Amino acid sequence: MRNRRAALAAMATAASLALTLSACGQSGEGGSKEDKGDAKGGTIGIAMPTKSSERWIADGKNVVKDLESKGYKTKLVYGEDDPDQQVSQIENLITQDVKALIVAAIDNKSLNNVLQQAKDAGIPVIAYDRLILGTPNVDYYASFDNTKVGELQATYIVDKLGLKDGKGPFNIELFAGSNDDNNTKYFFNGAMSVLKPYIDSKKLVVKSGQTALNQVTTLRWDGATAQRRMDDILTKSYKSGKVDAVLSPYDGISIGILSALKSDNYGSGSKPLPVVSGQDAELASVKSIIADEQTMTVYKDTRELAKVASNMVDAVLGDKKPEVNDEKTYDNGSKVVPAYLLQPVSVDKSNYQQVLVDGGYYTESDLK
Ligand code: GAL
Repeated sequence: MRNRRAALAAMATAASLALTLSACGQSGEGGSKEDKGDAKGGTIGIAMPTKSSERWIADGKNVVKDLESKGYKTKLVYGEDDPDQQVSQIENLITQDVKALIVAAIDNKSLNNVLQQAKDAGIPVIAYDRLILGTPNVDYYASFDNTKVGELQATYIVDKLGLKDGKGPFNIELFAGSNDDNNTKYFFNGAMSVLKPYIDSKKLVVKSGQTALNQVTTLRWDGATAQRRMDDILTKSYKSGKVDAVLSPYDGISIGILSALKSDNYGSGSKPLPVVSGQDAELASVKSIIADEQTMTVYKDTRELAKVASNMVDAVLGDKKPEVNDEKTYDNGSKVVPAYLLQPVSVDKSNYQQVLVDGGYYTESDLK
């Protein structure tokens, strides 16, 4: 313990010296190349949540590529959805003298101690996609407009069902993400801002009665957990009638929901599959959309998110203020974290080709 503290203290001194040096050298437009060279070649630690979802693999690869193109080395780790494992991985990165950390948290509240260690060692921290809560030691936040994600999912459902044209009533069931992910409530509240008027007017009926966020979350965004909940809802609440729409926050959850529906004979004969939303444009879900199963997804270009995060690191290490476009929404309980939010895009069978294939996210053959 003692040695560890001594090592951390030494690192803190070295890191603050490095920061001071680059700050001293900064004149006018952000310092000379040599000054920035201090940070260049340094190693950036990247902590991602899990390899079990394809999007985080793409995020990791894209962040590494961008940082390397800017002259940094990288250490990329995946926490396998285990908060304790993520904490020790970040501790490890700190002791390996990384110059900055990019963290997509597994549990938004479990990182306070380890981020204090980062702070003590002079290591800036960028929260990647998911805000880290309850600590002042998060410097910037790179994400998407998370409220808009939920609004896009719900608006799609409303349009597809024809609710604005007075059609209905329809049955809908609601799913949300992991309760330890800060994004979950933004997605859900965004969606509910669109759906609630129809639920209140009984044009949308939630037969399970489960409409509160704490009744509909899905721990660690797990598809199998969602599948079990959907099975249960179908058994208990749909002895008669059928589900017309399912609000799903994420593609992995949508695939689980669709499995439950198909086991209950939806998609064959008189029970068409309901409208099912999603998020991330994961390959399995885009294929499912092409096959007329999942109805839509919300595409968030991980290449762009990676760029935002790498630019933030590069700016902070060059003693410049990163570009941000939101300095009010993301209060983490300790401070409002300055954020750069990208725009999500609604994708279905009608535009996947244009958005995902022409946009170079997938090739035609990926989708076969
Ligand atoms: C969220 C993220 C979503 C989805 C989900 C499950 O934090 O914003 O896009 O990836 O995690 O991985």
